[in-house]
Amino acid sequence: MSSHPSMFYAAIIGFSAYLLFFALPPVSAADVQKGRQMGYDIEMLEDEDLVNAWCQFCYCGLANKMTRIVGGWATEINAYPWMVGLAVKGRLFCGGTLISDLHVITAAHCVVNISPDKLYILISEHNVATRDELTAEVRRVAKVTIHPHYGNTVKYNNDMAIIKLDARVMFRSAAQPACLPPKDLELEGSTAKVVGWGAIKEGGPAATELMETAVTVFSDEECKKIPQFPVKGITSNMFCAGHKGGGHDSCQGDSGGPILVTDSRGRYIIAGIVSWGVGCARPNKPGIYTKVANYIDWISNVTSEGCFCF
Ligand SMILES: *[C@@H]1O[C@H](CO)[C@@H](O)[C@H](O)[C@H]1NC(C)=O
Repeated sequence: MSSHPSMFYAAIIGFSAYLLFFALPPVSAADVQKGRQMGYDIEMLEDEDLVNAWCQFCYCGLANKMTRIVGGWATEINAYPWMVGLAVKGRLFCGGTLISDLHVITAAHCVVNISPDKLYILISEHNVATRDELTAEVRRVAKVTIHPHYGNTVKYNNDMAIIKLDARVMFRSAAQPACLPPKDLELEGSTAKVVGWGAIKEGGPAATELMETAVTVFSDEECKKIPQFPVKGITSNMFCAGHKGGGHDSCQGDSGGPILVTDSRGRYIIAGIVSWGVGCARPNKPGIYTKVANYIDWISNVTSEGCFCF
């Protein structure tokens, strides 16, 4: 599908228009270097030449936020084009993030008890009640790789899984990957965005439109001091984010989705994966996220067939 020539040229024209519109910087030597560190061989043309050609000039982490302004918490349609929904029998139950044209990263606890052949991945989805997004599409799953040390030593440690899709995603403004973080990403004190279709309030119904909220990343010390978070329950593979007064948080149904920070160029990086918490948005009870920067080597190993953007 992704190698059909007419689709490719349509995509090229679309993408060129997109480039002009957003006046993107060219891919720099540093971008290429980062791609190589991620294990993608930029010079290598495999059998899917078109995919590889495409791969050499795509960008990660570009949000679609210039089209309209919305109040409240609902995102603009496909504002975060890496956001995907995981569904079983028509019910969206977890989020995930497109990191390459073949791979979605999510929480292990979302997929550990589900047979991959029952899983549907919703791409370019926005309003799950209407399903009328023009570009929305569904993929099935070729393989689910749960982190081999998921649940080691404490519950939810290494809460991460990678889903390989059954077919490549043709990147377009409504479907693009998030950037992966550098291994040394500093998060403490950062403002981050959590995106998901989860419950709007504790015990409440799931959102129909994709929602976003801004949170602040706590220091590890602050996180471990929080009553009810057993000290040993928070490992160095996790971080906390929320508001000390409560009120903004991830909630049931957001699991597996991303918590995002922006880099110096304004591109969105997936800093973490929504993992667990005590209730939602309670005062001084931040959400707990899997720290993606700790897993770059493992991700790189599992996703070697993917086209990453830089
Ligand atoms: C990645 O793969 C290499 C080669 O198979 C292996 O030696 C290494 O331990 C793997 N790294 C991780 C983090 O899985």
